[in-house]
Amino acid sequence: MARLEGIRIQNYRALRDVTLGKTFEHRTGTPLPKLMAIIGPNGCGKSSLMDALGFLGDCLTSGVEVACDMPHRGGFDRLRTRGVSEPIKFELYYRENSDSRPISYSLQIDIGSDGLPFVSHERLRQRRRGQSAGQPYSFLEISDGTGFVWAGEATELEEGGRKILFRLADRQRLGITSYDNVADQPRVVAFSTFLKGWYLSYFVPNRARDMPMAGAQKHLNREGDNLANYVQFLQRQHPRRFDEVLSRIAQKIPGIVSIKHEPQKDGRLLLQFNDRGYVDPFYQQDMSDGTLKMFAYLLLMEDPESAPFIGIEEPENGLHHQLLGPLAQEFRKYANQAGGPQVLVTTHAPYFVDELTPSEVWILEKGEDGFSSVVRAADIPTIQAMYDEGIMLGSMWFSNHFGRGNP
Ligand SMILES: Nc1ncnc2c1ncn2[C@@H]1O[C@H](COP(=O)(O)OP(=O)(O)O)[C@@H](O)[C@H]1O
Ligand SMILES: [Mg+2]
Repeated sequence: MARLEGIRIQNYRALRDVTLGKTFEHRTGTPLPKLMAIIGPNGCGKSSLMDALGFLGDCLTSGVEVACDMPHRGGFDRLRTRGVSEPIKFELYYRENSDSRPISYSLQIDIGSDGLPFVSHERLRQRRRGQSAGQPYSFLEISDGTGFVWAGEATELEEGGRKILFRLADRQRLGITSYDNVADQPRVVAFSTFLKGWYLSYFVPNRARDMPMAGAQKHLNREGDNLANYVQFLQRQHPRRFDEVLSRIAQKIPGIVSIKHEPQKDGRLLLQFNDRGYVDPFYQQDMSDGTLKMFAYLLLMEDPESAPFIGIEEPENGLHHQLLGPLAQEFRKYANQAGGPQVLVTTHAPYFVDELTPSEVWILEKGEDGFSSVVRAADIPTIQAMYDEGIMLGSMWFSNHFGRGNP
C-alpha cells in the first residue's frame, strides 16, 4: 500500500509554511505514521490543512481554477495567505510501497496577469538508485507550461533513457494528468492513482438520513448523504459477508442489539436498528446523530477497496464522549491491518486524543503573526516525558500543557 511520508504546505490560508513528517528538504523528519491526529484550538488551521489535501485532489481532477473557485474556497485570492505574493506551494513525499524509493511531488500555483490561477511549477523527483543515492533527480518537471518527462523508469544517467519534451495546451491542468494513463510512465500513473484515491470525510448525520434513489455506490461520499447507496452496494457485492458486517458493527454501538436490512419494492434498502429495550426497530431516518455517525464510520472501515488515505474531520461532533476512545482504537486497527489506509483525523476531543501516542499527534497553533505552526507531540520533550510516566495525552492537553492554545 502506498504511504504518504510527509507533506509541506506553503501559503495556503493561515498555513504560511508547515511541514508534517519527512520530505526531501526536511530529511530529519520522521515519516508519517498510519494513524495521525491534528489537534488545536478553533481557528488554528485544522480545517485548512484538511482542505489543502482536498484541494490537491480537486486540482488533479478538475484543474486549478475550478479547484480554487469551489464555493467553500472562494477563489485564489482568498486561499493564498494574506500579505504573501509567492505562489501557493505543496510538496508530497511518498512511497509506492515499503521497498520502493521515495518520490516527491511539488506543485506551485500562482495567479496570472489575466487574473486566473495556473500551474507555475510542477515536479516529480525520486532518489537515484545505488550509491549515487544522495541526490534526487526530476523525472517530470514543468515550468510555466513547458516541461519534460523521462520515459519508463530511466534516469538521465542511464543508457537508453529517453527525455520527452512537451508543452501544455492548458496551464490550469496539472501536467501529471497528461501522463496518468500512459503505460510508459508507471510512476506518474501510480502517483496520480494514489492522489485520486484519497477520501476526505466530513460526515453530516442529517444528510445520511435521506433515503436517496436506489442505486449502489461503491464508496461512502464526503458528507455521507449516499449512506443508503453505499449500504446497498456492500449488500449486493457481498451478500453473505454483509450480515456478518452488520452484526459486528451492532456489537460496537452501545445500546444496539442488532441491525437488519429490509429490501423495498423500489430496490432501496431500509436499515432496521434494534435498540435494547424497544420492541419495534428504529429506521435509519430516526437514528440519533451519534449512532448514525458511529455506524457510518464503522461501515466505512468495511469498505473492501479502501482508499489509500482517509482524512476525517472532527469525528467527535454528535458522538458521546465514551464512544471516542473506542472509535480511535477502531481507526488504529483499521489503519494497521494489511492493506489498511493511512488515517488522518482532526479533532478537539481530549477523549479521542487520550487513545493516541505522542508520535501520532500534531499540535497546530496560530502565532501572534496570524500564521499557523505545527509540532509533533513526541518532539516536545516534556510531553514525551509525561506520557512515559503514564499521563495520557488528552488530559495533558486539557490541562493546557501543550502551549498557549486552549482545547
Ligand atoms: N488567506 C488567508 N490568509 C491568512 N489566514 C487565513 C486565510 N484564510 C483564512 N485564514 C485564517 O485561518 C483561520 C481558519 O482556520 P480553520 O482551518 O478554519 O481553523 P480550525 O479548523 O482549526 O478551526 C482563521 O483564523 C482565518 O482568519
Ligand atoms: Mg475547523
